[in-house]
Amino acid sequence: MGGGKKRRQRGPQHLSSTVRLERRTLWTQNAVEGKAVYGESLRRFSGKEHRRWDPTRSKLGAGMLRTNRDPGLLLPEQGDTVLYLGAGHGTSVSHLYDHLCGASNRFGGRLVCVDLAPRCLRDLTFMAKQRPGLVPVLGDARQHAAWGVLLPTKVPWLFQDVAQAGQVDIFLSACDRFLQPGGLGLLSLKAASERWTGEGESALFASVEQRLLDSGHEVEEVVELTGYEDNHRLFVVRKQGA
Ligand SMILES: C[S@@+](CC[C@H](N)C(=O)[O-])C[C@H]1O[C@@H](n2cnc3c(N)ncnc32)[C@H](O)[C@@H]1O
Repeated sequence: MGGGKKRRQRGPQHLSSTVRLERRTLWTQNAVEGKAVYGESLRRFSGKEHRRWDPTRSKLGAGMLRTNRDPGLLLPEQGDTVLYLGAGHGTSVSHLYDHLCGASNRFGGRLVCVDLAPRCLRDLTFMAKQRPGLVPVLGDARQHAAWGVLLPTKVPWLFQDVAQAGQVDIFLSACDRFLQPGGLGLLSLKAASERWTGEGESALFASVEQRLLDSGHEVEEVVELTGYEDNHRLFVVRKQGA
């Protein structure tokens, strides 16, 4: 090789003051220095410790690497109050926290995360001890009455990853109740979890998109997660009426 123009090395892309995209790797500035949450690697950039965001362990991370748009558009604003349904053991939640709240919640964010599995709540509660603003809730995403009181006003950003049958109904009902007009809703949809008698996965995803449109949402993007999470898509919707 030789003779050709050298391609200029692209620098990191700063998606927020605490989230950076370094080539094809996402990093968040660690809100709790010295601590990894799920065995991810730690590395310093400009003297500040960051955690590697593994896209094979996080649909939000995978969506940010796969979106055709600016990945930062999938994140809420720092300092917002947001709702996360199906928080699991807190992998995505931990990175979202780094962005939304920062160390000692210096941005003043609030991350309400709901899961119905007690073993997940145990991990989330442990994480919350060092993360003010992280609010773990043992609850069913379908039973708003039991925990909705924690969100007296509607939120600008809502994420759902429950991987159970009826995911679209759960999402639409949560958007209706908790998402403010103009707010962003992200639905991670696992094809295998839906009861589907139609003609294959693409038709299933198309029917979900149509349902979201029919319910009055703008579908900004449908992000294919295959490769990071097979048989999953991330639906990015904007609630109308801002
Ligand atoms: C795929 S895991 C979530 C992983 C997590 N979002 C992450 O990226 O780290 C799905 C989670 O949804 C929870 N779940 C399933 N149905 C639920 C429901 N109706 N309400 C609340 N959580 C639910 C499960 O307990 C499980 O922890």
